[in-house]
Amino acid sequence: MARPSHPKPSFDSVQVGPGRTGPLVVGDLVQLTDTRGNKTTITVRTGAILHTHRGQIPHDALIGLPEGATTMSTRGIAYLVQRPQLDDYVLGMPRQAAVIYPKDAARIVALADLGTGSRVLEAGVGSGALTCYLLRSTGATGRVFSVERRSDFAEQARENVARWFGGLPDSWDVIEGDLAEFTNEQIDQTRLGNGLDAVVLDMLAPWDCLEVADRLLRPGGALVGYVATTTQLSRLVETMRLSRRWTEPRAEESIVRTWHLDGLSVRPDHRMSGHTGFLVAARHMAPGQHAPERKRRPAPGAYGDDYAGPGSNSDSDQTAGSGEPG
Ligand SMILES: C[S@@+](CC[C@H](N)C(=O)[O-])C[C@H]1O[C@@H](n2cnc3c(N)ncnc32)[C@H](O)[C@@H]1O
Repeated sequence: MARPSHPKPSFDSVQVGPGRTGPLVVGDLVQLTDTRGNKTTITVRTGAILHTHRGQIPHDALIGLPEGATTMSTRGIAYLVQRPQLDDYVLGMPRQAAVIYPKDAARIVALADLGTGSRVLEAGVGSGALTCYLLRSTGATGRVFSVERRSDFAEQARENVARWFGGLPDSWDVIEGDLAEFTNEQIDQTRLGNGLDAVVLDMLAPWDCLEVADRLLRPGGALVGYVATTTQLSRLVETMRLSRRWTEPRAEESIVRTWHLDGLSVRPDHRMSGHTGFLVAARHMAPGQHAPERKRRPAPGAYGDDYAGPGSNSDSDQTAGSGEPG
């Protein structure tokens, strides 16, 4: 099937409100689903034609249709017509960096305790998938700061976010730079200074950004880290423990198994996304306060002679903190 072309999104500023409803109009994102379940998303343009190998669909035939209607291709194939949901949009949008999957985005919004009016910072922005969920949960009265050190990725994220929201959300700031190197001056300049509700880190070395997260978050605010490997998970958690500026971190992963539903053949699908990443979450301590020492003993061997992570004798590159872990 020919890849649908999208016109450049509008970069006008928009309020993040409820998604569009009502009959389809020019400029809407529309998802066409064929009888095999294949989905194609287009931006409706007057006079444009979607070419598929199952026939052509003129965009003009979609204008004015309600969502949940069907349309026929020139080869008589029925297509279901709907606006896409965000889960479908992020999985289909152009990307240069790996995106956070919908199942993880949902948990991040919950672990960060976001709601209308929340103020959250994420780094890096990558392709902007998580950004769309953060903007939607915090709404027009909230604020999302997205820090990205690669300007080509920041640009890609701007395009993806603008295409989804129909413009650049007023409640969104993209800051190009390395979060680990943020100075207090930059924090003041970017209106980040007065205590964020949450910081979300999705990057290779989130432990490098803990110190700046400590400066950005309000007491009780949430830190959420998303990491792909167990070695990153361990290093992030141990570095957090060492500084004692965080409550005891919890870690989780979500495994979503979709099901095949066909008559008596009701069973898990053969294929699934086996691994995306791990989530680490903790809350921020008050200024000058340190998390109580853990009472629970570490498992035997957890910090044995061969342990070389943060806080070990061999570790010269550790976050400043008090004493031995465990
Ligand atoms: C996996 S991608 C993020 C994907 C994004 N969460 C999404 O859902 O589309 C990781 C991004 O972090 C950026 N990055 C890594 N370290 C960073 C840092 N210290 N400060 C800012 N951005 C950073 C990388 O350039 C990359 O774009």
